[in-house]
Amino acid sequence: SSSAVLTLLLTFYCSGNTYGEELNNRRFPQDFMFGVATASYQVEGAWNEDGKGVNIWDVATHQVPSPVVNNATGDVACDSYHQYKRDVAILKEIGADFYRFSLSWSRILPSGFDDKVNKAGVKYYKNLIKELRANNITPLVTLFHWDLPQSLQDLGGFQNDIIIDRFVDFARVCFREFGEDVQYWMTFNEPISICHVGYALATLAPQINSPGMGEYLCAHNLMRAHAKAYRMYDEEFRSAQNGLVGIDVNGAWYEPSTNSSEDIEASETLMQFTYGCYAHPIVHGDYPEVMKKNVARRSALQGYTRSRLPEFTPEEIKYMTGTYDYIGVNIYTTELVTPAKGGSISEMGIGPDAQVTSWQPEEWEKSSSSWLKVVPWGARKLLQWLGSNYKGARFIITENGYSDDGRLEDDARLSYYERYLSKIRDAIEFDGVDVFGYTAWSLMDNFEWMRGYSEKFGLYQVDFNSPNRTRTPKKSAKWYANVTRTKCLVE
Ligand code: NOJ
Repeated sequence: SSSAVLTLLLTFYCSGNTYGEELNNRRFPQDFMFGVATASYQVEGAWNEDGKGVNIWDVATHQVPSPVVNNATGDVACDSYHQYKRDVAILKEIGADFYRFSLSWSRILPSGFDDKVNKAGVKYYKNLIKELRANNITPLVTLFHWDLPQSLQDLGGFQNDIIIDRFVDFARVCFREFGEDVQYWMTFNEPISICHVGYALATLAPQINSPGMGEYLCAHNLMRAHAKAYRMYDEEFRSAQNGLVGIDVNGAWYEPSTNSSEDIEASETLMQFTYGCYAHPIVHGDYPEVMKKNVARRSALQGYTRSRLPEFTPEEIKYMTGTYDYIGVNIYTTELVTPAKGGSISEMGIGPDAQVTSWQPEEWEKSSSSWLKVVPWGARKLLQWLGSNYKGARFIITENGYSDDGRLEDDARLSYYERYLSKIRDAIEFDGVDVFGYTAWSLMDNFEWMRGYSEKFGLYQVDFNSPNRTRTPKKSAKWYANVTRTKCLVE
């Protein structure tokens, strides 16, 4: 009958769109999850309260002179340690299906080791999870979002393989304390930011400058820590808790700058060095061939007797394979890629080893972050690439977002979300990529690492001058609340 047809149409189609581009306004699948994200150091504050230990971001931000814009710190940040009920209230206003947040390792284990569990720290996260549950919001918990206990950094951080067992101990405490109420776990957020930006570019903490050496050691230890935590969950918790454990990968979408075969190859190589470095081991057990080949060849030319990229043993390859239940991907932007011209053989690091250069054209639509240009079509291409490289994997977009000056009438952010979500919808529908959820970065304005509070990503504005850090919804928050309610891209 015609009314059945109408019902059917209403099930699949939404009723219009705001910005007039060819938006995919088909309804997202009924079980598709919409959420928002934050991370411990960026929002919690309370940096030295209730027994919390010192972490590498406390140390980095307290340096004199400060490496952070306007000497900002996360000492108070959004004060979520005290305002978590307000956070859950605004999550409710947004209609979030889930909340992605991270655990502060040094709040739970002040020394970094599991010799002493800080009860107050555990209590904080239990309270938060309880409040979420009471409001029907699913927790998605990241174990590590960059705030490493300083005691472990003093031992070399991710360059020392002691990190593997210490991370597994930390994960065990978290699974034991919170696992009954947590179904979605992520081990590491953005490993390439941790290893490349933290250990090669010396930008993010721990600000180490070891391109092509420290960054690969970091990657190697991080991947083995991930795999061991995953296996430990299998052995000790899975039958009782039945959760999902994954890892979050990121980078830009690396678009060939022309359709020449050289540019296409350069793009593929950079994708493998960036995403493949972390996703290939968990899916196929080892680093991508092109990465092993390139680093080995350049290491030999530099006079090293073995590759600067460490090798997995055959046992490790077997152990690593399949250590994921899902893969998280943080999507922000796109860069163009071409083979590197010139450059000396002594150069090391991802760019020189991959032998590529990448950039963003001046004319691309800007945000307040220099690296973040608005390129919605890149989101679809990135998902296509991931879907075809890691067949059978389920994906969740663990971050996507836009920075501005913090204005309440944030039309540019709203438009960014709308256009990116439309391309993501396309990837699900036309490319068959298995994406089951989407996370907006971020719930509220927060501490944007070395950019301090100068680049704002929030759906909610935070008044950093008010004692309790008042949260006020932006226009994009009201728009996103409609998306979470209707699962459609409509005003
Ligand atoms: C990636 C990181 O995971 C998050 O901490 C950061 O704030 C956003 N992207 C924006 O740069």
